[in-house]
Amino acid sequence: MTRNRHAVIWTCISGEPEKMGDLLLSAQQASFTYTEDYISSAQAGFCLLGDASIWGADTVVYPVSERIPVFPRMLSLIPGANPRNLQRRHYLDLLKARLGKEPPPGLETEWRLLMMGGHGGIGHVDVFPDDISAEQWYRTRASLNDDPGVAKRSGRRSQLWRMLKREVLDENLDFDAQQIEQVLGPTPSVGGMISKLLVSVTPGGKSPVFYAPGASNKKSVVLKVEPPEYRGMLDLEALCLDIHAESGFEVPWHQRLDDEDLHFLAVERFDQSADGLPVPMESLFSVLATGDHKFRESGDIFLQELGGKLDRLSRVANLVPDTNEQMYRRILMALLTGNGDLHLDNIALLGGVADCRLSPIYDPAPMRAWPRHNLVSAIPYNPEGYEDRGALFVDLGGSFGLSARQTRQCIHDALAATSSYTERVAALDRVPARQRQQLVEIVRQERLLLEKYGSAL
Ligand SMILES: Nc1ncnc2c1ncn2[C@@H]1O[C@H](COP(=O)(O)OP(=O)(O)O)[C@@H](O)[C@H]1O
Ligand SMILES: [Mg+2]
Repeated sequence: MTRNRHAVIWTCISGEPEKMGDLLLSAQQASFTYTEDYISSAQAGFCLLGDASIWGADTVVYPVSERIPVFPRMLSLIPGANPRNLQRRHYLDLLKARLGKEPPPGLETEWRLLMMGGHGGIGHVDVFPDDISAEQWYRTRASLNDDPGVAKRSGRRSQLWRMLKREVLDENLDFDAQQIEQVLGPTPSVGGMISKLLVSVTPGGKSPVFYAPGASNKKSVVLKVEPPEYRGMLDLEALCLDIHAESGFEVPWHQRLDDEDLHFLAVERFDQSADGLPVPMESLFSVLATGDHKFRESGDIFLQELGGKLDRLSRVANLVPDTNEQMYRRILMALLTGNGDLHLDNIALLGGVADCRLSPIYDPAPMRAWPRHNLVSAIPYNPEGYEDRGALFVDLGGSFGLSARQTRQCIHDALAATSSYTERVAALDRVPARQRQQLVEIVRQERLLLEKYGSAL
């Protein structure tokens, strides 16, 4: 028998914790109702298309499915079910201790994980089982020890290292989860595939010393930890961030760090304002799935339809006018750097209904370097009617509403931005030679195809 589950959503978007409303989950649907105070505050809602300016006092509803068992916006607040997700392992261990048995797979456990890890993460939405837990959590966080020396105490730091070595490098070491929580605070869920933590770092510091998120005089970062089976991946990702930045894309500050066998990429968080307040951030996947109940996965849309979807979205939300062109430019950069992994969770919108835009670039890792990720585009395209991929990607400009002249400019810029890419890939000696060769060859082919048509436009 299923029963309704209840939870609450809070936010700290104004600097003070406030309740947004009540969340209810039945076997058929998720529903959410704003509090009157939150509606009258006119602040951003829990998701773009579920904003209070659209729904007011009406209950926002979403028909759940096995694939999306909660509101799509909530998916990134549940730690991902992949073997290297640090948060999932951590919370499953806690749950196991609480239940006295292995937590059974299924919705009950996912819901519990959402209650445990669904606050303090990326964006401005914090989910809790009830109001008392919410108030308590904000109080504890406010008193979190901000002592800058805290992570230097070698005992605690070595606990963190032991945890990372155990969970990421599979070394047989024990660690004390409680000591890690004392250094870094509770570990909220972060989406994506590879291990990562939300911490802060000293900008420019050469040695990897990590502090609690939000520590004063530090940069809050998403800290990505390189999986040993993808050696050099974070070097490639850092190179792609640099290449985007050099050609004018908005790219967060980032730094590669190494410590013995552990390799990190610290990327400054852009889901926070300069004074540390949370900024709404929602993946395009979540936005599209909330708007179209038949949409369940990245594969449910063709690249050729993306421009139209963004047009439709801009009738509801105030999207920055050149969003379509920026999207096309990002797709070309992904093609020309060998990033086949530009899926709809690697594209996000920042801001609320009144003012939203594409987030800065993140996760541009050229995964095609690894044979099992050698996919041209994670968002599928319809190849019918095209002589080859070059013709298709040139024609794609039109589907984003661009003229032939604008399309030509975008292609020209993307080719120029990536002109030294293969040499720079070849120079990354931490990346295995096979991966470098594969990537260089793939990128060479894509350039040839695009150049052939780009020059004829
Ligand atoms: N600099 C950042 N600021 C804010 N959120 C970020 C940033 N980088 C990544 N994220 C969020 O974290 C998630 C996981 O990061 P990502 O780099 O995509 O990791 P993975 O390589 O594991 O997919 C992203 O989907 C996005 O929601
Ligand atoms: Mg990602």
